[in-house]
Amino acid sequence: NCAIEKHGRKRSVHQMIRDRIDEITRSLVVCDETLRRMMASLEAAFNKGLATETASSASVRMLPSYVRSVPNGTEEGDFLALDLGGTNFRVLLIQIHNREAKMTSKIFRVPDHVMKGSGEALFDHIASCMAQFMEEHGLKNTKCLPLGFTFSFPCKQEGLTKARLINWTKGFNASGVENEDVVDLLRRACHRRGDIDIDVVAVLNDTTGTLMACAFKENSCQVGVIVGTGTNACYMEKLTRCGKLETELDPTDGLPDEMCINTEWGAFGDHGEMESLRTEFDVEVDQASINPGRQLFEKMISGMYLGEIVRVVLARLAREGLLFGGDTDAISKKGGFPTKYVSEIESELLEDEERTFSKTFQILEDLGIEGVSQLDCIHVATVCTLVSTRAAHLTAAGIAAILNRMQKPYVTVGVDGSVYRFHPTFPRLLDEKIDQLIDGNLEYQLMLSEDGSGRGAALVAAVATRMKNERSQ
Ligand code: GLC
Repeated sequence: NCAIEKHGRKRSVHQMIRDRIDEITRSLVVCDETLRRMMASLEAAFNKGLATETASSASVRMLPSYVRSVPNGTEEGDFLALDLGGTNFRVLLIQIHNREAKMTSKIFRVPDHVMKGSGEALFDHIASCMAQFMEEHGLKNTKCLPLGFTFSFPCKQEGLTKARLINWTKGFNASGVENEDVVDLLRRACHRRGDIDIDVVAVLNDTTGTLMACAFKENSCQVGVIVGTGTNACYMEKLTRCGKLETELDPTDGLPDEMCINTEWGAFGDHGEMESLRTEFDVEVDQASINPGRQLFEKMISGMYLGEIVRVVLARLAREGLLFGGDTDAISKKGGFPTKYVSEIESELLEDEERTFSKTFQILEDLGIEGVSQLDCIHVATVCTLVSTRAAHLTAAGIAAILNRMQKPYVTVGVDGSVYRFHPTFPRLLDEKIDQLIDGNLEYQLMLSEDGSGRGAALVAAVATRMKNERSQ
């Protein structure tokens, strides 16, 4: 009897802890009704960003890319591509032939002090990596190849080859780059070195690259989405809906009547649109970031922040004595819980039928948390699931808002980014939720777009070169 009673009491203590955790984390669950409300507000923000009178004060910037058509598969040639926007910088040589793209690339790290130092030093670093790559591939003293530059930050473009940085996002904060044309900064850095020549024919966002790379394979691709270090989406928009472009474009230019618009949806919420959804945890993550009050949608979704949200929730639970026997030290360290842990812990939750939680134990112990219990592991996994599910559902609402806006009967959505690629359930959760949120008459498919930032840059460069050649003939 005594044993039974003891067991029962233990269960009820566990139940109490569980209930309290549920109560604290309830705000992380977003119901469909709320998602639909968010979609309506996002749709309004899209319109605001596109209209002449409101564009300059819109949170969602809806930036024209000057890319007017998706590739048709006939693109050919050798191209250089640069990819700056995440934790790494890449230089690529891409050879497109017979509908296949052969790529050779090299990854260079961008050290934190370069990301946050002077703009000149940042572009000198880029030019030096390029020079090294060109040297290694015998490209230095030959005819200069057309170059596509994937620069994944909000830019005001004034054509395919001119892009002024509006503001930095993600962890970047190099001085003297905002308001400048990044193509010009790159050219100047190459001149300073004097040993490499470049021919920039296109500058683009990674979402545009993702759309283009996917469209090269799948003609129906009209939307590009990134869920990586940051999050963003672009889509093919009718020019008749881009009021702010009216004075600029020539309706008799013979080009298609659409343009790829880079939404920069990461900044949705910066004008208060997400207040009913943001939790105390989101507020804490934002306040401690290098750009408080900015990129609020992105801060609830992307890889740079997911782990940090989980950490903040766990720290709160530990402070209340609900986790780690109340040990708050290790979990209180800012940035100590990278998003890759979220993927690893949730993968184990799916695969580990015996509930050994060996990987989760190891992660928590590596963090320096002492006396971790199996119950702690279960609770940590639950928090990870809540945070990543919310991210998938918010992304789904964003994509559904775009699909509903386009009203095209069948659209392929090209998706890329570390969260989409490596999180075990994100793609499925995303797909299921879009399906529930789009209009009944519409159909779509999600497609992993392999390396859009690289291949996409070459494709935009290829289309631009083709058009230039056609014009000069
Ligand atoms: C950030 C950038 C955006 C980019 C996205 C994904 O949101 O502002 O330009 O597309 O990250 O890399």
